[in-house]
This record gives sequence, C-alpha cells and structure tokens, in this order.
Amino acid sequence: MIGIFDSGIGGLTVVKALQKKLFHQQLLYFGDTARTPYGSKSPETLVRYARQNTEWLLEHGAKIIVVACNSASAAATVQLRKDYPGVPIFGVITPAVEAAVTKTRNGLIGLVGTRATVSSNLYGTYAKKMSDGKVQVFANACPLLVPLVEEGWFSAGETKRIVKKYVHPLRAKNVDTLILGCTHYPLLKQIFQQKMGNQTILIDSAEELAKSVVHYLDENPDSIKKLPKKKSVFYVSDITSHFQYIAERWLGETIELHKVACA
Ligand code: DGL
Repeated sequence: MIGIFDSGIGGLTVVKALQKKLFHQQLLYFGDTARTPYGSKSPETLVRYARQNTEWLLEHGAKIIVVACNSASAAATVQLRKDYPGVPIFGVITPAVEAAVTKTRNGLIGLVGTRATVSSNLYGTYAKKMSDGKVQVFANACPLLVPLVEEGWFSAGETKRIVKKYVHPLRAKNVDTLILGCTHYPLLKQIFQQKMGNQTILIDSAEELAKSVVHYLDENPDSIKKLPKKKSVFYVSDITSHFQYIAERWLGETIELHKVACA
C-alpha cells in the first residue's frame, strides 16, 4: 500500500494524479487537518509532524511514503530518508525540479509556493545542483492562495487579481518555466497560465511526483504487492463537513473519512 500524507486537503491533487496512473495500488491518505496549515510552520515543527505522520502510515501498512505537501517535503524529506533508511520516501521537490530543469529554454525558472517552501530555498539549491549552476530559480511566496482554493474560488476575479500580483515579480525576471510548488496550485493552473502568458511552461508538482512514484514502481515491481483495485482509504486528524465536501468535489467521488487521534 502507498501511504501519502499532507497538511490537509491539498494532497488530494497528488491522490488524483496517482489514481490516474496506478490502477493496482490502494492508497492510504493521511491529511493532518487538525494542524493545518503547514505553510506557515517552522522547519523543526514540520520535521516533527512529518515523522509522526510517516510513523502512522507505516504502522497502518504503508510500504512507500509519499510526502504530498510541498512545505513538509522541503523541511523533512531528507530527514525522513535518514530516519527510515529501508523505506522508499518520495517528496515533491526533486521531481518538480527535474522537470523544470529539463524544460526551461532560457534557464530562468519561477517558483510559487508557501512561505515555508520558499524560505527553505531547496528548489533553487537542487536546481543549481542538477544543472551544474546553469539555471536560476526566482521564488515568490503566495500565502493568500491556499485559503482561496479551499473556498473553491478557482476562477473568481479576486483570485485572478491576486495571482497576477504574485507572479508579477517572476514575469519581471523573464522566467520561462513556473513551478507550481504547492498542493493547491494545480487547481489554479488556468489562472497561472493566463497571468504568465501562453509561452510559459507550467510544472505541476503533483503530476511530477506521481510520475516519479510510477517510475519507481516500474523499476522495482516487487517493492509492493499488486492488489486488485480497492478504494483508497482516507484518514484525517480532524473531520469537518467542509473537508468532506471539498474532498469529494476535488476527487469527483464519494469518500469515507476516518478520524485518527493525533499526537
Ligand atoms: N500542503 C501545503 C503545501 O503544499 C499547502 C497548505 C498548507 O500550508 O498546509 O505546501
């Protein structure tokens, strides 16, 4: 079973991307809705949460861990790999950076994400390493976008204006590729494309993460058993009717939510 965790609802974009590509795997999702948002937390807190979430997923049968949340990936993926050496652990950052470095034509990449993701500087560091210093990453934190997406304002005028304002400094740097470095932003893809212009290549970090998991499973077919398709299982640390509503809207299916007691 593949275990996925996120700060709350955003990781469902990764679930959706994985469900499209993996037909034999049951997904076990944990959304830390009681402690969301992660995007404004310190790296120390995020490492602590990430360890607890990973522990819980492993205890409940996960053989592979997917850190769907960009903020948690930035703060904790490296540490989790040290803490659980035998467990394949996937974060969002490496696959998204690889895609961006491959696709950029002018070597100028933009990144939008939460404050935690942007201030980690990890996207820039990895991109430099992967390209032998040939590409540059310009980042802008977009803290207002998560609440707008959670309100379902995917195409509201207010959302468009805010996205325009956030991408303005990146357009000024002439980036030709933009990494959507937050679980929620794939739901605003059209607006980002509009505001960046048609020529800009958008990198959907949820899609890239899903591709890297599929690639790993293709290369390591025995790492987890193929199972007859079973419904994915969803756990959260706090249940609200709003979560249930958005989750079903995003996934396009009815889901049963279970509550887990959180440390
Ligand atoms: N899941 C978070 C991320 O991708 C966004 C929501 C939050 O701040 O918790 O960074």
